Amino acid sequence: MHPNTYFDVNQNSWYNYFMAILSDDEDLRGNKGALNKKNPIVKPENIEYDKTFENSIRPKDFDSYIGQSALKETLKITLEAAKLREKPLDHMLFYGPPGLGKTTIAGVIASQMGIDIRITSAPALERPRDIIGILMSLKGGEILFIDEIHRLNKVAEEILYPAMEDFTLDMTTGKSQTAKTLRVPLPKFTLIGATTKAGELSSPLRDRFGMIHRLEFYTIDELAKVVQRTADILEIKITEEGAKAIARRSRGTPRIANRLVKRVSDFAIVKYDGIIDEKVANESLDILKIDEFGLDNTDRALLNLIIEKYDGGPVGVETIAAALSEDVRTIEDVCEPYLLQAGLLQRTPRGRKVSPEGYRHLGVKAPSEQQTLF
Ligand SMILES: Nc1ncnc2c1ncn2[C@@H]1O[C@H](COP(=O)(O)OP(=O)(O)O)[C@@H](O)[C@H]1O
Ligand SMILES: [Mg+2]
Repeated sequence: MHPNTYFDVNQNSWYNYFMAILSDDEDLRGNKGALNKKNPIVKPENIEYDKTFENSIRPKDFDSYIGQSALKETLKITLEAAKLREKPLDHMLFYGPPGLGKTTIAGVIASQMGIDIRITSAPALERPRDIIGILMSLKGGEILFIDEIHRLNKVAEEILYPAMEDFTLDMTTGKSQTAKTLRVPLPKFTLIGATTKAGELSSPLRDRFGMIHRLEFYTIDELAKVVQRTADILEIKITEEGAKAIARRSRGTPRIANRLVKRVSDFAIVKYDGIIDEKVANESLDILKIDEFGLDNTDRALLNLIIEKYDGGPVGVETIAAALSEDVRTIEDVCEPYLLQAGLLQRTPRGRKVSPEGYRHLGVKAPSEQQTLF
């Protein structure tokens, strides 16, 4: 089927009827997730102030989308097949810690397919009419991107099931005895969901995605390429070693790498001769209190807390969050994934434990090492 032959919602007689009971906007409200405003430089979430900056450097095609090679290979084939079959893409779910490129890959897919993408996030779809409004305003072949999809409420989810499966909207009108279910056809669309917590997605929703992919943390070499690319776009002078030095402290996360390039470039201009080399990068990052693992004060406070107050753990995440005055979600979604990946923290059935490597990083002797002294 050719995209032009998709069902045209405007020709449907129900369209005007439903539009009348829908909200006056399908306004894409921003991300209202918990944001850590205390120490934003190395926090991988999207912070309001740098959204414009992010959009200006976001890769638009596969070639400039660095790393995630397994994902790119699969996607290239999937996209090619969809084009050959002239069918819309399967619904896709991307998950993984913030800042790894979930929103970006959705944009890449849209531009590689030459189709439009509508971006929203689950917290903006509170009322049934929010999701209905968006679904009804989609054009055939379009991508609908829902960020933080694990936060969709039950009602919105249930509206999505038939929409994803059969491209229909099942609506009930009237009170109990006179209730009628109306099936309204929708244009064929592709849903792309993104989440930091795939585990919190209900299984009926998860099962409706044809492709589910986890994004991985980036290697130092990949991040160095991200740094180099951003520096080129921003016309920042940087040496290969300078790019590597920034990459090493970016917690495996492109969003952080980009933020650090900008910060270090300020130092390079004000305090040095404008060129970021290894020394400039390391000295600037030391001043910004970002250590060789890319940990910031909150991460170090977390490790220190477990070591000092709980003998290295295990200790529950709620206790950790309360002691640090952070919310559990920030600890679980933002701090922990990288600490776990870097091997500094371990997750056990009874709670979190600092690993021997974590002890070493903070310059504290691990209990096992202490024992061998006696
Ligand atoms: N693979 C990549 N190559 C280059 N830059 C990337 C890549 N992935 C992400 N970025 C950059 O990192 C920033 C955050 O990416 P984003 O897609 O918003 O992360 P997420 O949605 O997973 O939180 C973007 O500004 C983008 O420019
Ligand atoms: Mg995102």
